[in-house]
Amino acid sequence: MGNSNKPKYVSVPALAPIGEFTGILRQAWDSRVLTHNGPLVQLLEKKVDQYLGVRNTVVVTNGTIALQLAIRALDLTGEIITTPFTWVATASAIKWENCTPVFVDIEKDTFNIDPEKIEAAITSKTSAIMPVHVFSNPVNIDRIEQIAKKHKLKIIYDAAHAFGVSYDGKPVMEYGDISCTSFHATKIFNSGEGGACFSPDSEVTRRLKRLRFFGHNDQKEIVEDGLNGKMTEVHAAVGLANLPYQDAVAEKRKRIFEIYFNKLNKLEGVSFQKFKPDEYNCSYLPLLFPSEKICIDVMEELFKSNAFPRRYFYPSLNTVKAVGEYIPMPVSEDVSKRILCLPSNNDLSFEDVEQLADFILQYFKAK
Ligand SMILES: Cc1ncc(COP(=O)(O)O)c(C=O)c1O
Repeated sequence: MGNSNKPKYVSVPALAPIGEFTGILRQAWDSRVLTHNGPLVQLLEKKVDQYLGVRNTVVVTNGTIALQLAIRALDLTGEIITTPFTWVATASAIKWENCTPVFVDIEKDTFNIDPEKIEAAITSKTSAIMPVHVFSNPVNIDRIEQIAKKHKLKIIYDAAHAFGVSYDGKPVMEYGDISCTSFHATKIFNSGEGGACFSPDSEVTRRLKRLRFFGHNDQKEIVEDGLNGKMTEVHAAVGLANLPYQDAVAEKRKRIFEIYFNKLNKLEGVSFQKFKPDEYNCSYLPLLFPSEKICIDVMEELFKSNAFPRRYFYPSLNTVKAVGEYIPMPVSEDVSKRILCLPSNNDLSFEDVEQLADFILQYFKAK
Protein backbone atom coordinates (compact mmCIF):
# COMPACT_ATOMS: atom_id res chain seq x y z
CA MET A 1 0.00 0.00 0.00
CA GLY A 2 1.17 3.53 -0.69
CA ASN A 3 3.78 4.74 -3.11
CA SER A 4 6.53 2.68 -1.54
CA ASN A 5 6.90 -0.79 -0.13
CA LYS A 6 8.46 0.60 3.01
CA PRO A 7 6.71 -0.38 6.24
CA LYS A 8 4.51 2.42 7.53
CA TYR A 9 5.02 2.99 11.22
CA VAL A 10 3.15 5.21 13.67
CA SER A 11 6.29 7.12 14.32
CA VAL A 12 9.67 7.51 12.65
CA PRO A 13 12.11 10.15 13.92
CA ALA A 14 12.15 13.28 11.79
CA LEU A 15 15.84 13.98 11.18
CA ALA A 16 17.86 16.84 9.73
CA PRO A 17 20.35 16.02 6.93
CA ILE A 18 23.16 14.07 8.57
CA GLY A 19 25.81 16.62 7.51
CA GLU A 20 24.09 19.22 9.67
CA PHE A 21 24.23 16.92 12.68
CA THR A 22 27.89 15.99 12.16
CA GLY A 23 28.78 19.65 11.62
CA ILE A 24 27.42 20.48 15.07
CA LEU A 25 28.84 17.33 16.64
CA ARG A 26 32.33 18.23 15.41
CA GLN A 27 32.39 21.05 17.96
CA ALA A 28 32.08 18.49 20.75
CA TRP A 29 34.71 16.26 19.15
CA ASP A 30 37.15 19.11 18.79
CA SER A 31 36.62 20.49 22.28
CA ARG A 32 36.44 17.04 23.93
CA VAL A 33 33.44 18.31 25.89
CA LEU A 34 30.86 15.52 25.68
CA THR A 35 28.70 16.25 28.72
CA HIS A 36 28.40 18.25 31.97
CA ASN A 37 26.17 21.08 30.80
CA GLY A 38 28.39 21.71 27.78
CA PRO A 39 27.99 24.50 25.22
CA LEU A 40 25.66 22.45 22.98
CA VAL A 41 23.29 21.68 25.85
CA GLN A 42 23.29 25.35 26.82
CA LEU A 43 22.64 26.35 23.21
CA LEU A 44 19.80 23.83 22.90
CA GLU A 45 18.17 25.31 26.00
CA LYS A 46 18.40 28.77 24.51
CA LYS A 47 17.02 27.62 21.13
CA VAL A 48 14.14 25.71 22.72
CA ASP A 49 13.35 28.82 24.79
CA GLN A 50 13.21 30.85 21.58
CA TYR A 51 11.23 28.27 19.61
CA LEU A 52 8.58 27.74 22.27
CA GLY A 53 8.50 31.32 23.55
CA VAL A 54 9.48 30.29 27.09
CA ARG A 55 12.33 31.34 29.38
CA ASN A 56 13.34 28.44 31.58
CA THR A 57 14.07 25.31 29.55
CA VAL A 58 16.04 22.77 31.58
CA VAL A 59 17.02 19.89 29.29
CA VAL A 60 17.55 16.44 30.78
CA THR A 61 18.25 12.86 29.73
CA ASN A 62 14.64 11.88 28.95
CA GLY A 63 11.01 12.63 29.74
CA THR A 64 10.79 10.09 32.56
CA ILE A 65 13.70 11.67 34.42
CA ALA A 66 12.10 15.07 33.77
CA LEU A 67 9.00 13.89 35.69
CA GLN A 68 11.11 12.43 38.51
CA LEU A 69 13.16 15.60 38.83
CA ALA A 70 9.95 17.65 38.88
CA ILE A 71 8.55 15.56 41.77
CA ARG A 72 11.83 16.02 43.68
CA ALA A 73 12.09 19.73 42.94
CA LEU A 74 8.66 20.29 44.49
CA ASP A 75 9.34 17.99 47.50
CA LEU A 76 6.23 15.95 46.78
CA THR A 77 5.23 13.10 49.05
CA GLY A 78 2.25 10.77 49.47
CA GLU A 79 -0.31 10.58 46.67
CA ILE A 80 -0.17 12.15 43.24
CA ILE A 81 -3.35 12.17 41.17
CA THR A 82 -2.90 11.22 37.54
CA THR A 83 -4.53 9.48 34.60
CA PRO A 84 -4.57 5.78 33.79
CA PHE A 85 -4.69 6.63 30.07
CA THR A 86 -1.01 7.42 29.55
CA TRP A 87 2.34 5.85 28.87
CA VAL A 88 3.53 3.83 31.87
CA ALA A 89 6.36 6.34 32.49
CA THR A 90 3.92 8.81 34.08
CA ALA A 91 3.01 6.34 36.81
CA SER A 92 6.46 4.79 37.19
CA ALA A 93 8.11 8.20 37.65
CA ILE A 94 5.71 8.80 40.55
CA LYS A 95 6.54 5.42 42.07
CA TRP A 96 10.32 5.83 41.64
CA GLU A 97 10.00 8.98 43.72
CA ASN A 98 8.33 7.00 46.52
CA CYS A 99 4.91 8.48 45.89
CA THR A 100 1.69 6.66 45.02
CA PRO A 101 -0.11 7.26 41.74
CA VAL A 102 -3.85 7.66 42.31
CA PHE A 103 -5.78 7.27 39.09
CA VAL A 104 -8.76 9.37 38.11
CA ASP A 105 -10.81 8.33 35.09
CA ILE A 106 -10.75 10.21 31.78
CA GLU A 107 -13.22 12.10 29.60
CA LYS A 108 -14.54 9.91 26.82
CA ASP A 109 -14.00 12.48 24.07
CA THR A 110 -10.77 14.37 24.96
CA PHE A 111 -9.11 11.24 26.45
CA ASN A 112 -7.71 13.52 29.18
CA ILE A 113 -8.15 13.22 32.95
CA ASP A 114 -11.70 14.24 33.91
CA PRO A 115 -11.31 17.33 36.13
CA GLU A 116 -14.76 16.80 37.60
CA LYS A 117 -13.65 13.49 39.10
CA ILE A 118 -10.45 14.82 40.69
CA GLU A 119 -11.86 16.24 43.92
CA ALA A 120 -13.35 12.89 44.95
CA ALA A 121 -9.85 11.37 44.79
CA ILE A 122 -8.16 13.99 47.00
CA THR A 123 -7.18 12.78 50.47
CA SER A 124 -5.06 14.20 53.28
CA LYS A 125 -2.07 12.50 51.60
CA THR A 126 -2.50 14.11 48.19
CA SER A 127 0.37 16.45 47.33
CA ALA A 128 -0.11 17.08 43.62
CA ILE A 129 -1.99 16.53 40.38
CA MET A 130 -0.07 15.25 37.37
CA PRO A 131 -2.32 15.52 34.32
CA VAL A 132 -1.14 14.44 30.87
CA HIS A 133 -1.88 16.46 27.72
CA VAL A 134 -2.80 13.26 25.90
CA PHE A 135 -1.70 13.19 22.26
CA SER A 136 -0.84 16.91 22.70
CA ASN A 137 -4.44 17.84 23.57
CA PRO A 138 -4.22 20.24 26.54
CA VAL A 139 -6.24 19.25 29.60
CA ASN A 140 -8.75 21.72 31.01
CA ILE A 141 -6.00 23.78 32.66
CA ASP A 142 -8.34 26.45 34.04
CA ARG A 143 -10.38 23.90 35.95
CA ILE A 144 -7.36 21.95 37.16
CA GLU A 145 -5.69 25.11 38.45
CA GLN A 146 -8.88 26.02 40.29
CA ILE A 147 -8.98 22.62 42.03
CA ALA A 148 -5.24 22.70 42.84
CA LYS A 149 -5.55 26.16 44.35
CA LYS A 150 -8.58 25.21 46.44
CA HIS A 151 -6.81 22.15 47.89
CA LYS A 152 -3.28 23.65 47.98
CA LEU A 153 -1.88 21.06 45.59
CA LYS A 154 1.05 21.38 43.21
CA ILE A 155 0.63 20.69 39.49
CA ILE A 156 3.09 18.93 37.21
CA TYR A 157 1.91 18.66 33.62
CA ASP A 158 3.16 15.68 31.67
CA ALA A 159 3.49 17.45 28.34
CA ALA A 160 5.54 14.68 26.71
CA HIS A 161 3.41 14.92 23.54
CA ALA A 162 2.74 18.64 23.53
CA PHE A 163 5.87 20.30 22.09
CA GLY A 164 4.84 23.51 20.35
CA VAL A 165 1.27 23.56 21.69
CA SER A 166 -0.39 26.64 23.20
CA TYR A 167 -3.32 26.89 25.60
CA ASP A 168 -5.33 30.08 25.61
CA GLY A 169 -2.61 31.81 23.58
CA LYS A 170 0.23 30.89 25.98
CA PRO A 171 2.81 28.11 25.49
CA VAL A 172 1.50 25.03 27.26
CA MET A 173 4.92 24.51 28.87
CA GLU A 174 4.40 27.69 30.89
CA TYR A 175 1.56 26.24 32.95
CA GLY A 176 1.73 24.45 36.27
CA ASP A 177 4.44 24.48 38.89
CA ILE A 178 6.44 22.47 36.37
CA SER A 179 5.73 21.11 32.89
CA CYS A 180 7.76 18.21 31.54
CA THR A 181 8.26 17.05 27.99
CA SER A 182 10.05 14.31 26.07
CA PHE A 183 12.42 14.61 23.12
CA HIS A 184 12.36 10.86 22.51
CA ALA A 185 12.85 9.64 18.94
CA THR A 186 9.09 9.03 18.63
CA LYS A 187 8.15 12.58 19.58
CA ILE A 188 7.37 15.45 17.20
CA PHE A 189 10.65 17.12 18.20
CA ASN A 190 13.43 14.71 19.02
CA SER A 191 17.01 14.58 20.20
CA GLY A 192 17.12 10.76 20.08
CA GLU A 193 16.63 10.49 23.82
CA GLY A 194 15.97 13.62 25.81
CA GLY A 195 13.46 15.72 27.63
CA ALA A 196 12.99 18.98 29.49
CA CYS A 197 11.41 20.61 32.52
CA PHE A 198 9.93 24.11 32.49
CA SER A 199 9.01 26.13 35.56
CA PRO A 200 7.84 29.74 35.81
CA ASP A 201 9.65 29.96 39.17
CA SER A 202 13.37 30.75 38.88
CA GLU A 203 14.10 29.14 42.27
CA VAL A 204 12.50 25.88 41.12
CA THR A 205 14.47 26.13 37.87
CA ARG A 206 17.70 26.49 39.83
CA ARG A 207 16.78 23.46 41.90
CA LEU A 208 15.99 21.38 38.81
CA LYS A 209 19.44 22.23 37.43
CA ARG A 210 21.03 21.26 40.72
CA LEU A 211 19.12 17.99 40.97
CA ARG A 212 20.02 16.90 37.43
CA PHE A 213 23.71 17.42 38.33
CA PHE A 214 24.08 15.12 41.37
CA GLY A 215 22.78 17.82 43.73
CA HIS A 216 25.75 20.15 43.17
CA ASN A 217 25.26 23.88 43.45
CA ASP A 218 27.03 26.47 41.26
CA GLN A 219 30.07 26.30 43.55
CA LYS A 220 30.21 22.50 42.98
CA GLU A 221 29.27 21.80 46.58
CA ILE A 222 26.97 18.82 47.18
CA VAL A 223 23.92 20.36 48.80
CA GLU A 224 21.29 17.64 48.32
CA ASP A 225 20.62 14.18 46.85
CA GLY A 226 20.55 14.58 43.12
CA LEU A 227 20.88 12.21 40.23
CA ASN A 228 22.53 12.14 36.84
CA GLY A 229 19.96 13.79 34.58
CA LYS A 230 22.43 15.51 32.28
CA MET A 231 21.81 15.46 28.54
CA THR A 232 24.97 14.65 26.57
CA GLU A 233 26.43 16.96 23.94
CA VAL A 234 25.77 14.24 21.35
CA HIS A 235 22.04 14.29 22.05
CA ALA A 236 22.04 18.07 22.20
CA ALA A 237 23.64 18.05 18.72
CA VAL A 238 20.78 15.88 17.41
CA GLY A 239 18.27 18.33 18.89
CA LEU A 240 20.12 21.38 17.55
CA ALA A 241 20.27 19.84 14.07
CA ASN A 242 16.56 18.97 14.09
CA LEU A 243 15.13 22.14 15.63
CA PRO A 244 15.45 24.40 12.54
CA TYR A 245 13.21 21.91 10.70
CA GLN A 246 10.55 21.89 13.39
CA ASP A 247 8.12 24.23 11.63
CA ALA A 248 8.26 22.08 8.50
CA VAL A 249 7.86 18.88 10.54
CA ALA A 250 4.85 20.32 12.38
CA GLU A 251 3.31 21.57 9.14
CA LYS A 252 3.57 18.15 7.51
CA ARG A 253 2.00 16.46 10.53
CA LYS A 254 -0.93 18.90 10.28
CA ARG A 255 -1.37 18.12 6.60
CA ILE A 256 -1.25 14.35 7.27
CA PHE A 257 -3.82 14.79 10.03
CA GLU A 258 -6.10 16.80 7.75
CA ILE A 259 -6.04 14.10 5.08
CA TYR A 260 -7.08 11.42 7.56
CA PHE A 261 -9.60 13.72 9.21
CA ASN A 262 -11.27 14.82 5.98
CA LYS A 263 -11.63 11.25 4.79
CA LEU A 264 -12.63 9.54 8.03
CA ASN A 265 -14.37 12.21 10.07
CA LYS A 266 -17.83 11.34 8.79
CA LEU A 267 -17.32 7.61 8.84
CA GLU A 268 -19.98 6.15 11.08
CA GLY A 269 -18.56 4.17 13.97
CA VAL A 270 -15.13 5.80 14.23
CA SER A 271 -14.31 8.97 16.09
CA PHE A 272 -11.37 11.29 16.50
CA GLN A 273 -10.16 12.81 19.76
CA LYS A 274 -12.03 16.03 20.61
CA PHE A 275 -9.51 18.84 20.20
CA LYS A 276 -9.18 22.52 19.29
CA PRO A 277 -7.29 22.80 15.98
CA ASP A 278 -5.16 25.70 17.23
CA GLU A 279 -4.22 23.83 20.43
CA TYR A 280 -3.05 20.52 18.92
CA ASN A 281 0.22 19.56 17.24
CA CYS A 282 -1.23 16.60 15.30
CA SER A 283 1.72 14.44 16.27
CA TYR A 284 -0.53 11.41 16.81
CA LEU A 285 -3.44 10.05 14.85
CA PRO A 286 -5.69 8.34 17.43
CA LEU A 287 -8.85 6.77 16.06
CA LEU A 288 -11.54 5.27 18.27
CA PHE A 289 -13.39 2.23 16.87
CA PRO A 290 -16.86 0.97 17.84
CA SER A 291 -15.53 -2.18 19.52
CA GLU A 292 -12.30 -3.87 20.53
CA LYS A 293 -12.98 -6.60 17.97
CA ILE A 294 -13.19 -4.11 15.10
CA CYS A 295 -10.15 -2.25 16.42
CA ILE A 296 -8.04 -5.42 16.43
CA ASP A 297 -9.44 -6.53 13.09
CA VAL A 298 -8.53 -3.21 11.41
CA MET A 299 -5.07 -3.38 12.97
CA GLU A 300 -4.47 -6.92 11.70
CA GLU A 301 -5.70 -6.05 8.22
CA LEU A 302 -3.31 -3.09 8.15
CA PHE A 303 -0.44 -5.31 9.34
CA LYS A 304 -1.02 -7.51 6.29
CA SER A 305 -0.55 -4.41 4.14
CA ASN A 306 2.76 -3.50 5.78
CA ALA A 307 1.24 -0.67 7.86
CA PHE A 308 1.70 -0.82 11.62
CA PRO A 309 -0.78 1.13 13.73
CA ARG A 310 -0.31 0.83 17.51
CA ARG A 311 -2.74 0.21 20.33
CA TYR A 312 -1.75 3.33 22.20
CA PHE A 313 -2.40 3.64 25.15
CA TYR A 314 -3.23 0.05 25.89
CA PRO A 315 -3.82 -1.36 28.43
CA SER A 316 -5.30 1.21 30.77
CA LEU A 317 -2.72 1.48 33.57
CA ASN A 318 -5.23 0.78 36.37
CA THR A 319 -5.46 -2.78 35.00
CA VAL A 320 -1.69 -3.39 35.08
CA LYS A 321 -0.68 -5.42 38.13
CA ALA A 322 2.89 -4.12 38.13
CA VAL A 323 1.58 -0.55 38.43
CA GLY A 324 -0.83 -1.07 41.33
CA GLU A 325 -4.01 -2.54 42.65
CA TYR A 326 -6.99 -2.66 40.30
CA ILE A 327 -9.59 0.04 40.76
CA PRO A 328 -12.21 0.27 37.98
CA MET A 329 -11.77 3.14 35.52
CA PRO A 330 -14.57 2.36 33.08
CA VAL A 331 -13.94 5.15 30.56
CA SER A 332 -10.19 4.65 30.32
CA GLU A 333 -10.56 0.87 30.11
CA ASP A 334 -13.13 1.22 27.35
CA VAL A 335 -11.19 3.80 25.31
CA SER A 336 -7.90 1.95 25.63
CA LYS A 337 -9.47 -1.23 24.21
CA ARG A 338 -10.91 0.53 21.17
CA ILE A 339 -8.16 2.95 20.17
CA LEU A 340 -5.51 2.75 17.47
CA CYS A 341 -2.87 5.30 16.56
CA LEU A 342 -2.43 5.26 12.80
CA PRO A 343 0.86 5.79 10.97
CA SER A 344 1.47 9.54 10.83
CA ASN A 345 5.22 9.98 10.58
CA ASN A 346 7.01 12.54 8.45
CA ASP A 347 8.42 9.96 6.03
CA LEU A 348 4.93 9.14 4.74
CA SER A 349 3.90 10.67 1.46
CA PHE A 350 0.48 12.30 1.24
CA GLU A 351 -0.44 9.54 -1.21
CA ASP A 352 0.49 6.94 1.43
CA VAL A 353 -1.83 8.66 3.88
CA GLU A 354 -4.70 8.89 1.38
CA GLN A 355 -4.35 5.17 0.73
CA LEU A 356 -4.25 4.31 4.42
CA ALA A 357 -7.43 6.33 5.00
CA ASP A 358 -9.08 4.71 1.93
CA PHE A 359 -8.12 1.31 3.27
CA ILE A 360 -10.09 2.01 6.45
CA LEU A 361 -13.03 3.38 4.45
CA GLN A 362 -13.03 0.21 2.35
CA TYR A 363 -12.88 -1.93 5.47
CA PHE A 364 -16.10 -0.39 6.79
CA LYS A 365 -17.81 -0.45 3.40
CA ALA A 366 -17.14 -4.18 3.11
CA LYS A 367 -18.64 -4.90 6.56
C1 LIG B 1 2.80 10.62 28.20
C2 LIG B 1 4.25 10.27 28.34
N1 LIG B 1 4.90 10.60 29.49
C3 LIG B 1 6.20 10.35 29.66
C4 LIG B 1 6.95 9.74 28.66
C5 LIG B 1 8.39 9.43 28.94
O1 LIG B 1 9.26 10.06 28.06
P1 LIG B 1 10.68 9.40 27.73
O2 LIG B 1 10.44 8.26 26.81
O3 LIG B 1 11.44 10.52 27.07
O4 LIG B 1 11.29 8.96 29.01
C6 LIG B 1 6.32 9.41 27.44
C7 LIG B 1 7.03 8.83 26.30
O5 LIG B 1 7.61 7.89 26.14
C8 LIG B 1 4.93 9.66 27.28
O6 LIG B 1 4.29 9.33 26.17
